[in-house]
Amino acid sequence: MQTVLIFGSNGLLGQNLVRRFKNHYHVLGSSVEQDNFLEALKVEYRAVDLTNRLQTRRLLEDVKPDIIINAAAFTDVDGCEEHREICWGVNVHAIENILESSVAFKPILIHISTDYVFDGEDGLYREIDKPNPRGNYARSKLAAENIILSGSLEYIIVRTQVLYGMGNKVRPNFVTWVVKQLQEGKTIKVVTDQIGSPTYAPDLAEAIVRLLENEAYGLFHVSSPDQISRYDFARKIAEVFELDASLIQPIETSELEQKAPRPRNSSFKIDKLFNYTGWEPDSVEKALIRFRKEYREYYA
Ligand SMILES: NC(=O)c1ccc[n+]([C@@H]2O[C@H](COP(=O)([O-])OP(=O)(O)OC[C@H]3O[C@@H](n4cnc5c(N)ncnc54)[C@H](OP(=O)(O)O)[C@@H]3O)[C@@H](O)[C@H]2O)c1
Repeated sequence: MQTVLIFGSNGLLGQNLVRRFKNHYHVLGSSVEQDNFLEALKVEYRAVDLTNRLQTRRLLEDVKPDIIINAAAFTDVDGCEEHREICWGVNVHAIENILESSVAFKPILIHISTDYVFDGEDGLYREIDKPNPRGNYARSKLAAENIILSGSLEYIIVRTQVLYGMGNKVRPNFVTWVVKQLQEGKTIKVVTDQIGSPTYAPDLAEAIVRLLENEAYGLFHVSSPDQISRYDFARKIAEVFELDASLIQPIETSELEQKAPRPRNSSFKIDKLFNYTGWEPDSVEKALIRFRKEYREYYA
């Protein structure tokens, strides 16, 4: 059985990856903090700070995994403007440490990147489109992609966006935030001028397994096949969860005064994923209906 080492196993995607991989692979989880979820699944956990070169090398030389999935990142987009060094440490130097420590045993490297590598002026981006990152988070994620491209490992880089799902003690995501606010009868303001392709975390985990098992190496965009504004997405969430959509007020991005710039339309074309795997994630509506079931079970 092949060994998969999942960095970022405490995070939203990491937890979904562990659940998807654990029955077919020997899985090891790893994050900085104490494990917050693997013990219950009887999956082995090893803490490591990926910005620490020695710690990273010790772990990798000890485990020598067949496959590394790097879902660890500094994901606070506005925080990256304030804490550039931490952002660069986790999002860029960590990948240098991983590559340097694994050239000797040559694992397959799967790395998660983002729609933010694009400026969002056009939308419906394909893998061949030219990135133009704005802001530190975006630049750090593109820098990591470029390091992997010039490295010697077989790789799959998966760009994703507007990730949502359930996870133990993870940060709220857009969907869980909308649901919670509306359930509490609170009014929320949501932007009409940011368009994207939301991604249900179990679908992203499924795409990663399928790419790996099809030996589909290279760069791939993974999201739902739809493009939708944040405002319309919030209304769709309200509809699926049978909550009061009149609590959702439309606003424009300029009113939010966020520290980091946001792409206006960074939606994806996902034909390449389909061409290589014969599979694509569910539509926004279908995925939300599946998420509603997961959400209700989680809080039951
Ligand atoms: N969320 C989105 O909407 C979105 C959109 C596009 C792309 N992505 C990308 O998708 C990937 C997964 O995102 P996510 O939302 O699942 O992230 P997340 O929930 O914020 O989890 C990030 C994980 O990274 C770990 N980590 C942070 N610093 C680390 C370090 N120095 N060493 C080792 N591990 C470290 C954290 O560990 P602890 O919990 O132990 O601190 C956590 O497990 C990231 O690459 C992100 O850039 C996300």
